[in-house]
Amino acid sequence: MAIEIVPLTKADIPSAVECVQKAFSDDPYFRWAFNDPSKFNTQRNAASLAAHFQYGLSCDCPISVAKVTCSISDQKVDRDFNLAPGSVVGVGWWYSPQAARASQTWSIWAQEWLLSFRQLLNNIRFLGRGGLNVPRYWIWKQVQMEAHNTLWTDPRGYYFCNMVGVSSQARGMGVGKRLMESVMEKADREGMPCYLESSKGHPNITIYEKMGFELIKEIQCVEGGDVCKLYCMIRNPKAKS
Ligand SMILES: CC(C)(COP(=O)(O)OP(=O)(O)OC[C@H]1O[C@@H](n2cnc3c(N)ncnc32)[C@H](O)[C@@H]1OP(=O)(O)O)[C@@H](O)C(=O)NCCC(=O)NCCS
Repeated sequence: MAIEIVPLTKADIPSAVECVQKAFSDDPYFRWAFNDPSKFNTQRNAASLAAHFQYGLSCDCPISVAKVTCSISDQKVDRDFNLAPGSVVGVGWWYSPQAARASQTWSIWAQEWLLSFRQLLNNIRFLGRGGLNVPRYWIWKQVQMEAHNTLWTDPRGYYFCNMVGVSSQARGMGVGKRLMESVMEKADREGMPCYLESSKGHPNITIYEKMGFELIKEIQCVEGGDVCKLYCMIRNPKAKS
């Protein structure tokens, strides 16, 4: 397969943003948090994602992209596409483990302020949050924090898969697995656990089980009668056979 997995660079951010927007367009969490499609502003959302990617790069997060290395076309009955070299068809964004007792570094603290500042500028430039349901966003943050506080029992912390998304044309070709493996193999070498949350149960639970994750808890974000389920999964380190 003519796809390489490489670390994200600043130059890749626009294509990575586009890939994520497409990959998550039918994601249950996305639909719950942006619950009024008439208010959704694609450009505002892209600016926000770009600010997050810049934050991730500045914080040295392990972020990889899957890039087409030479033209791929598939005119089979079920798929019809032509991907140009350099196209980003997948993104895997992880956070490195943070020991439970470790305090936040100054550089991360500064990057968080910079991110907030960029988001403030985005609010001004686009006159709002681009359709994000802000109360729901904060409910999600709270539910997620409570889950981490109860489920993250390893004091060394977890490699946390913040997002992984593959363009619909490139799914089922092993791209998601390669994006995940780039960090899971490091975690195995270090004897560290990995963690993720997915709002899509099917087929993601099966996909992640194949990668060694186990479903440990289902949590819910609830607002205005709408529920968004999140499936929390942990992968314990595997010894090399
Ligand atoms: C989840 C996602 C990243 C997986 O990426 P992918 O490139 O399609 O997955 P892969 O081709 O690498 O498949 C990995 C494994 O899952 C299996 N798999 C893939 N799609 C499957 C499906 N629909 N049903 C069952 N198994 C499936 C593959 O056979 C493979 O198993 P193997 O190692 O035994 O061969 C991708 O489907 C995606 O982007 N989905 C939309 C966004 C999303 O939900 N992201 C996750 C948020 S946490």
